[in-house]
Amino acid sequence: MPKVWIERILNEPELYLLRVDDDQVKYFEAAWEIPEGITYNAYLLKLGNAVVLFDAWKKDYTEEFIEALSKLVDPKEITHIIVHHTEPDHSGSLPKVLELNGYRAQLIGTGFAKKLLEAFYGSKVAENFHIIKDGEEMKIGGKTFRFITVPWLHWPDTMITYVVEDGLMFGCDVCGGYSIPEGIDDINEEVVQKYLPYVAKYIVTVIGHYHKYIVQNMEKLKKLGIIEETRMILPGHGLIWRKNPKRIFEYYEAVGAGIPKKGKILVIYDSMYGFVEGAIKIALDELKKHGYNPVVYKFTDREAPPVSDILGDIPDSEALIIGASTYEANIHPRVRYVLYEIVDKANYEKPVLVLGSYGWGGVAGKEIETIIMKSKFDLVETIEARGRATKEDERRIREGVKKLLERLNK
Ligand SMILES: Cc1cc2nc3c(=O)[nH]c(=O)nc-3n(C[C@H](O)[C@H](O)[C@H](O)COP(=O)(O)O)c2cc1C
Ligand SMILES: [Fe+2]
Ligand SMILES: [Fe+2]
Repeated sequence: MPKVWIERILNEPELYLLRVDDDQVKYFEAAWEIPEGITYNAYLLKLGNAVVLFDAWKKDYTEEFIEALSKLVDPKEITHIIVHHTEPDHSGSLPKVLELNGYRAQLIGTGFAKKLLEAFYGSKVAENFHIIKDGEEMKIGGKTFRFITVPWLHWPDTMITYVVEDGLMFGCDVCGGYSIPEGIDDINEEVVQKYLPYVAKYIVTVIGHYHKYIVQNMEKLKKLGIIEETRMILPGHGLIWRKNPKRIFEYYEAVGAGIPKKGKILVIYDSMYGFVEGAIKIALDELKKHGYNPVVYKFTDREAPPVSDILGDIPDSEALIIGASTYEANIHPRVRYVLYEIVDKANYEKPVLVLGSYGWGGVAGKEIETIIMKSKFDLVETIEARGRATKEDERRIREGVKKLLERLNK
């Protein structure tokens, strides 16, 4: 049984969190390894003459959602349902809610959200749907609800809601993250420290393809004064931010822009029989000589790290070293896939040094170069050895590392 939280967040106005801890999921979007799990957060706001539901849970947890919701309100009494984003991790249990509600509630969202709800669940679900305009304000239960579109965070349908009088920002995917935090909010610093790396992993794997929109949309929210004024951020995944809401905004901005942490070099490689590894060891030794302590991910016949973890480590890295063996006239399949995802989801202007090893004709290096050249990454050099690195290869690798570090210190 998944853990379900029904927590009163505020007394005035009467605001509740409905959260389910999904510890059964293995791959988010059938792609990203998340042994750490994820939470789906919905919220209920009870106002004088209105009961507002903000999003819902994934379909798998519909029964649990209805049970939790019914402890707070008779679903028939819900007057408004705000649909920030229709990805089924937030909308899956809405059809059941509407059925129990007798389709009385007015749905509020973007035009895209209406179309997608119809496409996913049939037209009846979106019969009573108000399409918002960007920046539109509505009075609901005596409060001012401002709806702001944040396209591509995470889909074209996405918006946030800002309740003006109380400074509440409902973000859905915006300001969310993976994992199942032990608490519900950012009050405990230990919980926050443990959680933040999962936010980076979430941003890259889920929204990374659109990461320039993170920066744009955060800028938009800043200009509207929302980042200054917000008292509480209530996302659709992970922790609520009430002690320091600005912190998660800034974290999102930094990940979106790929702001590096001084000294963090990411090393990713495969090695079937140890030859690429030999070359990498030389590079690691050279890095150490210059005072760097790199983060290393390797694919061997003993280990294969989760690609989603590698992706999460890219935004705050200063530089990358990629090592690959040539495999059937191509890049080794593991590194080929990782690289494909890196340039798609975590495409940042960071220097890259490429190391390779081949048997009868080096191809991996050239292929990686071609991919890097088409991306925003900045290729420093490609150094390939036939089999194990010779003394001359070692000299070139050490020079290559020095060149990489020079780029950083420019
Ligand atoms: C399945 C397999 C396919 C390979 N395909 C190629 C190839 O197409 N071209 C080549 O030059 N070497 C090829 N090699 C040789 C390796 O690239 C070479 O031995 C390299 O040094 C391996 O480094 P590693 O042990 O660190 O993986 C292949 C090796 C294996 C096991
Ligand atoms: Fe989403
Ligand atoms: Fe989501």
